[in-house]
Amino acid sequence: MGFRICFFLLILTGASFCNGGITSSFLRKEAKSIDMPFDSDVFALPSGYNAPQQVHITQGDHVGRAVIVSWVTQNEPGSETVVYWAARSHRKHHATARVTIYKYYNYTSGFIHHCTIKHLKFDTKYYYEIGTRPTVRRFWFRTPPAVGPDVPYTFGLIGKPLSRIISIRKMTGICAGDLGQTYDSNLTLTHYEMNPVKGQAVLYVGDLSYADHYEFHDNRRWDTWGRFVERSTAFQPWIWTAGNHELDYEPSIGEKKPFKPFLHRYRTPFQASGSTDPLWYSIKRASAYIIVLSSYSAYGMYTPQYQWLWQELPKVNRSETPWLIVLMHSPWYNSNSYHYMEGETMRVMFEPWFVQYKVDLVFAGHVHAYERSERVSNIAYNIVNGECTPVHDQSAPVYITIGDGGNIEGLANNMTMPQPKYSAFREASFGHAMLEIKNRTHAYYGWHRNADGFAVRADSVTFFNRYWHPIDDSTTKN
Ligand SMILES: *[C@@H]1O[C@H](CO)[C@@H](O)[C@H](O)[C@H]1NC(C)=O
Ligand SMILES: *[C@@H]1O[C@H](CO)[C@@H](O)[C@H](O)[C@H]1NC(C)=O
Ligand SMILES: *[C@@H]1O[C@H](CO)[C@@H](O)[C@H](O)[C@H]1NC(C)=O
Ligand SMILES: *[C@@H]1O[C@H](CO)[C@@H](O)[C@H](O)[C@H]1NC(C)=O
Ligand SMILES: *[C@@H]1O[C@H](CO)[C@@H](O)[C@H](O)[C@H]1NC(C)=O
Ligand SMILES: [Fe+2]
Repeated sequence: MGFRICFFLLILTGASFCNGGITSSFLRKEAKSIDMPFDSDVFALPSGYNAPQQVHITQGDHVGRAVIVSWVTQNEPGSETVVYWAARSHRKHHATARVTIYKYYNYTSGFIHHCTIKHLKFDTKYYYEIGTRPTVRRFWFRTPPAVGPDVPYTFGLIGKPLSRIISIRKMTGICAGDLGQTYDSNLTLTHYEMNPVKGQAVLYVGDLSYADHYEFHDNRRWDTWGRFVERSTAFQPWIWTAGNHELDYEPSIGEKKPFKPFLHRYRTPFQASGSTDPLWYSIKRASAYIIVLSSYSAYGMYTPQYQWLWQELPKVNRSETPWLIVLMHSPWYNSNSYHYMEGETMRVMFEPWFVQYKVDLVFAGHVHAYERSERVSNIAYNIVNGECTPVHDQSAPVYITIGDGGNIEGLANNMTMPQPKYSAFREASFGHAMLEIKNRTHAYYGWHRNADGFAVRADSVTFFNRYWHPIDDSTTKN
C-alpha cells in the first residue's frame, strides 16, 4: 500500500510539468456500485412504535443561531414538540414542528415534521429530544461560532461515496454530493465518521437518494436514504443543494411537479436571505458566506433566481465574511465527457458576476469524478470577437467538482483529451476533500481518494482569499 502511494506521487510530480494540468493515472479498483438492499442494517427502523426516524438538521437562519430539525413518523403524527437545552444548562425549551405528508404515484409518505429552533447561543452544544414516550430519541448538535472574519472553520467536500475528511481544526464541515445509497456510499460515510476530526457541517452539492433510479421513483428509497444518513445528519447540519435526482419529474405517472419529494422532506432557510424559493439561498457560517444555487430552476434574465443573485452578491461584506463560496449541482468547468457542457448556460449568465465579486470557490457535484480548475474566466466573448477560450484570471474562483460519493451510476472515467488548460487536476475516483479556513487570508484544501490511507492527500492546495490576499495561488504555472 505504502509503496503504491509513493509511486503514484512520483507520477504526479512528473506529470505536472508536461501540460496545463494533471490527469491522474490512478486507476481505481473496479467494484460494483450497487444499492444496499432494503433489509440492510443501515436502513433499520428505530425500535418502538412510531419512533422518529430519518432525523436531520440544517442551518435555520442567516447567521447560524437557528437550526431546523426534521424527522418522520410512520404510524401517526405523534408529538410535534422538540425539547432542547444547552448542554451546560438544565433549563429545557420547547419548539413546535409543522407536519406535512405527500403522495407520489401510489406512495404515501409518513408524517414529515419540520421544526425551527431559534435564538440559540453561538458555539454551544445543545441536546434535543423528539418523539413520544416510550420512544423518545435524543440527539445533539453544536452551533457555529459567531460570524467573523478570522474565525477558523473547516468544510469537508464529499462526492459519491461519502468519503472521509481530514482536518486539524476544531471546526470541520463536509461538502458532499451525489451520495446515493450503495455500498460505496456507506463506505464514504463510514470513512467520514472514522476521521479523528469530527466534522460539524456538511456542504452537500446535490443528488441525495437516487430514488428516481427505480421504477415509479420508488419513494421508499427516500425513506431508506433518510435512515441511512441519519447517523450524521441528526448531529450536524447538512447544507442542501438540489440536484437533478431531486427533480422527480415524471409526467407519465402523473407527477408533474418538480422537486416534490425533496421539498417535502428537506428544508432550507431561504427566507432569511430574502429568497422566495427554497432551492436558492445563502447562509453565513463562521468566516464563510455560502450561496446555494439551483441548476434546475430558471436563471435567465428577469427570473426570480437571477434577480435574487443580482441583489445578493453586493450584500456580501468581505470584512465580515471574507470567504465567498458558491454551491451548485451542475459544474461550469468540467472536462469529463460525462455531463460535458451541461452547466454552460448558467455559466454564461452568472460568470461575469462571480469574477466581479471575486468569488473564492465554487463547488459542484453531478459528474461522478473529481476535478479542480485553475483560476480562470471566460467572459470576454461578445458574439463577434471570437474570444471564447478560458483565460487565467486571479479575480476568478477555483471550480471544484466533487461528484464522487458512491452512487449507483458508478464512476465517470471518459475525460476529454487533451486535458484543457483550465483543468488543474482530475481523476475518476471516489473521494472526499477538506477545506480548512484558517483566517481571512489562508485556506488549506486537500482531496483524499477513498482507496488511500486516511492521511494521504492526492490533491492539495493552499487557497488565498480573493479579497484580502489576492495573490496567485495556481498550481500549474507554465
Ligand atoms: C405501486 O405500484 C407498483 C407497480 O404497479 C407495485 O409494484 C407496488 O406494489 C405499488 N405500491 C403500492 C404501495 O401500492
Ligand atoms: C455500513 O457501514 C457501517 C459502519 O461501518 C457498518 O456497521 C454497516 O454494517 C455497513 N452496512 C452495509 C450494508 O454495508
Ligand atoms: C462590514 O462588516 C464590518 C465588520 O463587521 C462592519 O464594520 C462594516 O460596517 C460592514 N460594512 C457594511 C457596509 O455593512
Ligand atoms: C467518450 O466520450 C466521447 C466524447 O463524448 C465519446 O465520443 C465516446 O463514445 C466516449 N467513450 C466511451 C467509452 O463512453
Ligand atoms: C493566516 O493563516 C496562515 C496559515 O495558518 C498563517 O501563515 C498566517 O500568518 C495567518 N495570518 C494572520 C494574519 O494571522
Ligand atoms: Fe446529478
